[in-house]
Amino acid sequence: MKSQRAVGHGPPHPSAIDDSLDVSLRSVARVRSLRRLQAQSGQAFWSTDLNAWVVAKYGPAIAVLRNPSTFTSARRFETLLAKAKYDPAVARLLSHYGAGLVQADPPDHTRWRSAANHYYPQAYMREVEPTVNEICARFCEDLLTKDQADWNAELADKLAGAVISLVVGIDVTDCARLVKWIGWIAQLVSEPLPSDSTVREAAKAVTEMEAYFGARSKTDLRLLHADLSTSVITLAPRELVVLHMGVFAAGYTAIRHFLSIVIFLAVRGLVSDAVVFEDAARRRFIDEALRYFSPVQVAWRRVAADTRMLGPLMHQGDLVYVSLASANHDPDVFADPDRFCPERVHNPQIAFGRGPHTCLGAALARIEAGAIIASLGRRLDLSAHRVASIEWLNTFHYVGLARLNMERVTR
Ligand code: HEM
Repeated sequence: MKSQRAVGHGPPHPSAIDDSLDVSLRSVARVRSLRRLQAQSGQAFWSTDLNAWVVAKYGPAIAVLRNPSTFTSARRFETLLAKAKYDPAVARLLSHYGAGLVQADPPDHTRWRSAANHYYPQAYMREVEPTVNEICARFCEDLLTKDQADWNAELADKLAGAVISLVVGIDVTDCARLVKWIGWIAQLVSEPLPSDSTVREAAKAVTEMEAYFGARSKTDLRLLHADLSTSVITLAPRELVVLHMGVFAAGYTAIRHFLSIVIFLAVRGLVSDAVVFEDAARRRFIDEALRYFSPVQVAWRRVAADTRMLGPLMHQGDLVYVSLASANHDPDVFADPDRFCPERVHNPQIAFGRGPHTCLGAALARIEAGAIIASLGRRLDLSAHRVASIEWLNTFHYVGLARLNMERVTR
C-alpha cells in the first residue's frame, strides 16, 4: 500500500492529535467539571440540575454498576418519566418498559440475559464478521466515488442499520422505518427530562415497533433459528418481542455514534498504518476511542434502599447517574486522561459498562469499528477528500456526529 493512500502517515505528534479533536472537547469539558464536583463532595454528589445523584469517579462507578441490590435497574424508565405520570402516552411507555433485559435485576435479569445470550451468542457475533467487512467495503467504495456526501449518514448510520438488521434477522429494506421509530425512543433518553411531545412520539413509536416485531417474530426473526425447546427460553411471547426490539434499538443507537467517531478520526488523519494493518494496534485504538469519547455517556440506576455506601445518605427511589465518560477520564486510573492517546496500553475503559448489564454487543461493536478502520483505511486518500462541515451531536446520553459533510478535492 502506498503511504499516500493511507489514512495516516505514521503516528501523529500527540499535541497535533489533541488539536484536531478540538470540536469534540465539549464532552471532555463536561467530565472535567463533574470530576471537580466529585472531588469536593466524595464518592457521589447531588445535582440540583438533574435532580439526581452523580457518580463520576471510576471506582465508585464500577461499585454502583456491580451492585444491583443497592442500585437497581428495575423501573428506571418510570423514574425518568415520573414528571408526566398520568399521561396515557407515559402509561403506554411504562407498559413496554415495565420489564425487560435493561430494566431487570438479577435473578430476573439472568432469565432475560440467558435468553439474549441464546439468541445472540458471542460466537454468532463473530461469525458475521466477514459479512460485516464485505458490507462495509461496499459502502466505502460507493462513498469514495461521490463528489459530496454526508459520511455520517452514508457510512456510520448505514452500516449500523445493515449490521443490526442482519444480526436480528429483519429485512434490511425495513430498516429505515425501524430507525425512525428508534430515533424517537433514543430522544426519550437524550436529555434528563424528555418533553411532552417527545414522550408522545416515543409512545407511538413503541406501539408501532411492537406491532412490527410481534408480526415478524413467528416468521423471520432470529428466534426461529434458535432451539425453542431449550430450557433457557423462559420468556413469554411479548417478552420475546421486547427483547428483540431492545437488542435492535441498543444495537443501532450507540454503535452509530461510535462509528461516526471512528470515521471522524480517520478523516482527521489519526488512523495510522499500524492501526489499519495490525490487530493489536487496532484494538488499542478502538479502546482509546471508546475511552476518550465514551459514546454512551451515562448509565442510570435507582437507589433500592437507603444507603451510605458512597458517603452521603442516598434515599430509596433516588435517581443515580453513573458518568461513564467521567470515570473513563479518572486521573487516578488513566495517565493524562484528557489526552487522546491511541497507543495507550493500560486502558481498563468502561464504555460498555460493567456488572450484569455489561453491553451484549461489545464484540459486535468492535467488529464494526474494525471494519470501518480496515475498509476506509485501505481506500481513503486524504489529499483527495476534505471535510466540508462537521456537526457534533453532544447530548446528555450520547456523543457522536450528527453530520460529516465531505467533498472531493478538485485538482
Ligand atoms: C460502541 C458501541 C456501544 C456502546 C458504547 C455500548 C454501550 C453500552 C452500555 C454502557 C451498556 C450498559 C448500560 C447500563 O449498564 O445501564 C450497554 C448495554 C447493552 N448493549 Fe451496548 N453499546 C454499544 C453497542 C451495542 C451493540 C452493537 C449492541 C447489539 C447487539 C448492543 C446491545 C446492548 C444491549 C442489549 C444492552 C443491555 C444489556 C443488559 O441490560 O443486560 N450494544 N451498551
